[in-house]
Amino acid sequence: MRVSELTLQQHALQQTPVFPNFLTRVLYCRILGSQPRTGLCASNYGLQEALMKKRIGIVFGTRPDAIKMAPVILELGQHPDEFETLAISTGQHRQMLDQVLQAFDVSADIELDVMRHNQSLSELTRRILEAMDTLLTKNPLDCLLVQGDTTTAFAAALAAFYKKVRVAHVEAGLRSGDIFQPWPEEANRKLAGVVTQLHFAPTPLARENLLAEAVPSDHVVVTGNTIVDAVERLQEMHTIEHPLPDGVPDDGSQMVLVTSHRRESWGTELQNICDALVQLVERFPKIRVVYPVHLNPNVCSTVQARLGNRDRVHLIPPVDYFQFLSLLRRCHIVLTDSGGVQEEAPIFHKPALVLRKVTERPEAAQMGMAKIVGTARDVIVREASRLLSNPFAYQTMASGDCPYGDGLAAARITTALSRWLDGEQPILAEAEQFQGTVRHVPLGAVRDVQLAV
Ligand code: UD1
Ligand code: UDP
Repeated sequence: MRVSELTLQQHALQQTPVFPNFLTRVLYCRILGSQPRTGLCASNYGLQEALMKKRIGIVFGTRPDAIKMAPVILELGQHPDEFETLAISTGQHRQMLDQVLQAFDVSADIELDVMRHNQSLSELTRRILEAMDTLLTKNPLDCLLVQGDTTTAFAAALAAFYKKVRVAHVEAGLRSGDIFQPWPEEANRKLAGVVTQLHFAPTPLARENLLAEAVPSDHVVVTGNTIVDAVERLQEMHTIEHPLPDGVPDDGSQMVLVTSHRRESWGTELQNICDALVQLVERFPKIRVVYPVHLNPNVCSTVQARLGNRDRVHLIPPVDYFQFLSLLRRCHIVLTDSGGVQEEAPIFHKPALVLRKVTERPEAAQMGMAKIVGTARDVIVREASRLLSNPFAYQTMASGDCPYGDGLAAARITTALSRWLDGEQPILAEAEQFQGTVRHVPLGAVRDVQLAV
């Protein structure tokens, strides 16, 4: 039923929050004689209204943002009649981001180009806030999708909030319970969550974390992690069996795949990790360590100084996503402090030793497929040695199903966005959400029970 102009105006002003583009819609719809989409009520739109697509901004800036957003961009792109997407790259990363975009054959519609060599977190945050503010002024959106815990996610969400653009947060609700681990990402994710209206929790555990912080349950949808979709998509698109990177001989050695770049480990802890790798190659003559080193200069300098020119330790530049998945498939074990790699290792049934004291992704450890080993040299050497010398211990950790997703996350996000923006409830029926395998891990337990000492 058509509402009068007066009612329409009052209705528009009563929306909380009032989205600037909503008022534009009201005016536009008045011209067309149809009812505007309010986002809060389900309505039967006229033909003209159907022409008004949902405008979704999708922001990414780092390698993991892009890997995890690519399936969402591709899925939304399957519904051009309903969604108009704006892929926004903050450019927090440059080379490492390009590698991902090329792999998925996606590109940014807008590039904000904020990366500066070794810039501080405050500089990075300021650049993203300012650039997003300008962008959102010029491009009215119905919703901005942010992903994860990077400064891109946090600062873009804040900029959207300042513009009263609704925020939907992909990979919401992961918590370590310590804002300094991972630093600054635990805080970034929580801060993004504060200004988020729709939380896409990847697992039931992440949903519980949000509910424990009093987020209303009808604002949370459990989707599975889009990284599982990303791996599946790449496997469909191309073979992920690549020759080994230049300089790594294909001689049947057991590969220990390493990634370590966390800010909270810079300095002594990263040195400990490197020293543990040296001990492992000395102890096990049949292993080779393959370590694609993050381009952050604070990481490169320590790793080069400690591990450069070591026999059977291969420091390589970041590899493209196909090559990394190929390495994951070929390796024997994984040592990592990366969030994404923790989620990928169980997809390939590879035991993962997590080089952190605490993780916000405890599911694999709860299932016995990963172990939190911290950053002490002796503990890392002991736990890796156990896996390299004890086939039973190895097999135990190499079996099980990935607890992080089922490859349908992007489809769930797309359906939920559509229903949410049309004001429908439930946004996604309970049975349609990702059911997961691990629930009820109290936050304290994540740290105290799992860290191997
Ligand atoms: C950032 C994210 C971290 C994520 C990681 C993924 C924050 C606070 N941190 O790490 O959550 O795990 O990315 O990789 O958002 N650089 C390049 N080329 C690149 C990328 C980086 O030269 O393609 C160099 C630049 O000098 C840049 C520096 O690395 O200033 C640091 O980049 P930054 O995004 O700040 O990295 P991290 O914060 O370490
Ligand atoms: N990755 C990659 N090339 C590399 C190292 C990692 O493509 O040389 C991928 C990896 O598969 C994972 C993601 O990058 O999906 C993890 O990113 P990163 O460790 O930089 O960030 P985090 O996940 O810790 O935030």
